[in-house]
Amino acid sequence: MSTTFQIDTATSRATPTPAPMKRLTVPAIRRRKQDGVTENPVVMLTAYTARQAQLLDAHCDMLLVGDSLGQVIYGLPSSVPVTMEMMINHGAAVVRGSYHAAVLVDMPFGSYEQSPQQAFENAARLLKETGCAGVKLEGGEAMAETIAFLTARGIPVMGHIGLTPQAVNLLGGYNARGRSEAEAAKIVADARALDAAGAFAIVVEGVVEPIAIEATRACSCPVIGIGGSAQCDGQVLVAEDMLGLFERVPRFVKRYADMAGLVSQAAEAYAREVRERSFPGIEQTYQPKA
Ligand code: KIV
Repeated sequence: MSTTFQIDTATSRATPTPAPMKRLTVPAIRRRKQDGVTENPVVMLTAYTARQAQLLDAHCDMLLVGDSLGQVIYGLPSSVPVTMEMMINHGAAVVRGSYHAAVLVDMPFGSYEQSPQQAFENAARLLKETGCAGVKLEGGEAMAETIAFLTARGIPVMGHIGLTPQAVNLLGGYNARGRSEAEAAKIVADARALDAAGAFAIVVEGVVEPIAIEATRACSCPVIGIGGSAQCDGQVLVAEDMLGLFERVPRFVKRYADMAGLVSQAAEAYAREVRERSFPGIEQTYQPKA
């Protein structure tokens, strides 16, 4: 069982919070959208580690411990093999590393689809063992009953529709959704169903822009876009994608930095200095006291 501890700033590399902060709550995020209008868009990024959470926390309203960690952290081919244990360990680390953002943890494939009871058992485990504020699960109308069941029992749920990566085997790939009339109508119907079931927010991923806008307008709760539209009520990206850590990213990613380039330059400089024996220098070695 994973436990959330307070960071001991005396013994860890952790950056302590500069001042006591009040963490954002799910109801506060839900209230961002009033009568169909969100004046202050919701900012969300993924985070998988305590240090990453520390760096992103102050800038985000929500940190998502996404099951994309399967590919990003574990080098898996998709999010399908991700386990509850992985989500619990990374979820607890992100909660430990953050003070301000509401932390959401993805329910992994196979942990919620069977029945509302199965979903409750696993969602409760995620809340208890990570300290997160709520869970996210994928699926449209078929998941509405489960979302209502969890919400009625005290578990805040964020929905995820459109391109749902856990269904990659059914979808046959990661292409944009909503290009046919039937697909577009289904996405909007899914959004309405999840909203009515009590989802506090809904991620709409990889859908053609007019459908992302229609889904946003159709919902009373905030709709968070990823490959959607700037007119959604907020945005989410995988942090490693927007930081430029990967060469291959989906079209909807904007790279705000070239972290892969920086890491490569630093590793090259380190390797050179080790080989020429100029590292460690006098500053990095312990000398006998005079
Ligand atoms: O797993 C994930 O990172 C996600 C986001 C991309 C929305 O679900």
